[in-house]
Amino acid sequence: MRSIYLTGFMGAGKTSIGHALGKKLGLAVYDTDSLIEEKAEESISVFFEKYGEAEFRRLEEEVLQSLPVTGSVIMTGGGIIKKANNISWMKEKGLMVFLYCDMEVVLQRLENDIARPLIQQKSKEEIMAIFSERLPLYKKAHIMMDTSSLGIHEAAEELAVAIKSWHSGQH
Ligand code: S3P
Repeated sequence: MRSIYLTGFMGAGKTSIGHALGKKLGLAVYDTDSLIEEKAEESISVFFEKYGEAEFRRLEEEVLQSLPVTGSVIMTGGGIIKKANNISWMKEKGLMVFLYCDMEVVLQRLENDIARPLIQQKSKEEIMAIFSERLPLYKKAHIMMDTSSLGIHEAAEELAVAIKSWHSGQH
């Protein structure tokens, strides 16, 4: 089975849904943000502070390409779609999923967040603008799922069904 790449905005639930999905499907689970932190031996916010976003994106692409293209659920950072090359990689090698979540829910989750450098000191309007700019890129995914009103396990369940049906449509 091709690897499943979970994409979507910060706070959309990629990490929790990814773990639940991996368990459900019996697949290995990888998280590009955690792997970057391990590799760099820095937290993401310190990494951004020290080296900047461009260096983060370089490492993110490297990590993405180092991960297995079969048998895995791969949770990605919200900005992975900023590189066209990453979208092509995910779509050519695997199954790209967009986890959509209403911005009202996302903004509530991100309130008081100090781990995500790109939203620090940003107003809700500015965060909404980043989302709008990225939306067409997320929409390039093979499968889109709205998780706004779903619990983690419900979302993983629905996603597992959508993935199976996508695979059966391929043959
Ligand atoms: C980012 C999202 C973060 C992390 C970094 C940049 C972004 O991941 O990769 O802070 O540009 O949207 P999450 O989507 O897991 O928060």
